[in-house]
Amino acid sequence: MKNKKITVTSPLLPDLEEFIPCLKQIWDSKWITNNGDFHQQLEQALCEYLGIDYISVFTNGTLPLITAFQALNIRQGEVITTPYSFVATTHAIWWNGLTPVFVDVDPITGNIDPDKIETAITENTVAIMPVHVYGNPCDTAKIDALAKNYNLKVIYDAAHAFGVKVKAPSNSPAGGGRALYKTANPMTYEWLKKHSKEMRKNQTQAEDVLWSLLRGENAGASFRRQHVIMDYIVDFVCVDKGLVLEVDGGYHTNSEQKEADELRDQMLKKQDYTVLRFTNEQVIGDPDTILKQIQNTLQSLPKRVSKDEAWSSILNAGDMSTLSFHATKVFNTIEGGALICHSAEMKQQIDYLKNFGFEDEVTVMAPGINSKMDEIRAAYGLLNLRQVDRAIAHRKQVAQNYRAGLKNIKGITCMHEIEGVLHNYSYFPIFVNEREYGMSRDALYEKMKAANVLGRRYFYPLISTFSPYSSLPSSNIANLPIANNLANAVICLPMHAELTDEDVKRVIEAISR
Ligand SMILES: Cc1ncc(COP(=O)(O)O)c(C=O)c1O
Repeated sequence: MKNKKITVTSPLLPDLEEFIPCLKQIWDSKWITNNGDFHQQLEQALCEYLGIDYISVFTNGTLPLITAFQALNIRQGEVITTPYSFVATTHAIWWNGLTPVFVDVDPITGNIDPDKIETAITENTVAIMPVHVYGNPCDTAKIDALAKNYNLKVIYDAAHAFGVKVKAPSNSPAGGGRALYKTANPMTYEWLKKHSKEMRKNQTQAEDVLWSLLRGENAGASFRRQHVIMDYIVDFVCVDKGLVLEVDGGYHTNSEQKEADELRDQMLKKQDYTVLRFTNEQVIGDPDTILKQIQNTLQSLPKRVSKDEAWSSILNAGDMSTLSFHATKVFNTIEGGALICHSAEMKQQIDYLKNFGFEDEVTVMAPGINSKMDEIRAAYGLLNLRQVDRAIAHRKQVAQNYRAGLKNIKGITCMHEIEGVLHNYSYFPIFVNEREYGMSRDALYEKMKAANVLGRRYFYPLISTFSPYSSLPSSNIANLPIANNLANAVICLPMHAELTDEDVKRVIEAISR
């Protein structure tokens, strides 16, 4: 259709054919909410995908913001935050009886300006709530250092920052402590993990012999037993070098099994693993020769650079971060959200708080709320997680096309793409300079609408201008000139995984004409 409506966003939907069997499973089990299987699987899969250790999924992205203060026991005082965000950020502060203090933003990133945070700190300041606006990472190193200096908590509103990573050395606080390789398939991982535990308990005689040769870095490197890689459980693996060892019983000589083994080896090879296969007899009969062969192979293999060493999730910064899985977001569970923290104890507290504060059947630890994600949305989320990389890659292409198409239009500026960041392309904001463009932002917004191209003035108006907050001293426009300029100039262009080249052309034309 030539003039079809181009919407600002369009939800990423899982394949209905794949969703229906999940629904059937939920129907059969009759377990539809309260920390069911899909809920647990989604949390596990999100930890794997995002490169974080602890996540609690919620019914939306606002309740984790509210709950974060509860979990950190922040009951009164001032919270330094940004006016250039969605109103939920400030509402979360208000709902906790805390006082928001607005600070101006950086003109390049739209994020809270860390240099202005320090001047806003008073003896009443208890926390900082920055936002990774449009998925652009805040200066977390500066903000977290400031917080440490003044003994403040930091809760990042990362609603826009699903999957965003920054380059970080593996020994930095953000990069350290992660599992090296995360190659398991989130859909099958839980089941395989249980199975692998059993297999470790019931090793064959040959596996026993080989394990006695490998354990304690006897072979010169560390090995794991019965380890899950993709959809497989391998007998032994040295993750650092990507060396897999398989000890084959007699049945591996039959032709069907041989074929399956070959396929498996090929799949592992694709993931950059080297596979050595030994028979039971070889291992038991001549362990010294086997050990020598393993040592020689290890020596010939370079150390692999893990993805997580190169990139660290932005969600590892601060005390906590929150995500929104709303239908408009890069990754959605229709409505949904999450709270990310950095210890098992804290996750436990959060899980109590999202279930009315129940610690067990008869104990309530605090006035919690009900914000549990149900099984249907958790299953939907698991399926969407499989296609989110493809969606982000498409968004990246759209962003590149927008940049190329808009670069010569006077008075229109695109946001810089920050280097050293794995972006998620969640939004594509442009800023209109009325004098140079010859038309106001609002006039352009209306003109686009008339051409059936729907943008969004996001974030406009500034939160500090809304009636609950406008009388705060920090809401004075003189305190927030940069945020005010951005809010009055911004239009977010259509950005989603279904935009075609033709759509992008039409958006650019609507702005060019
Ligand atoms: C920056 C920011 N914070 C919080 C939220 C609230 O998330 P939810 O709509 O999932 O409650 C949003 C939603 O758009 C947002 O953009």
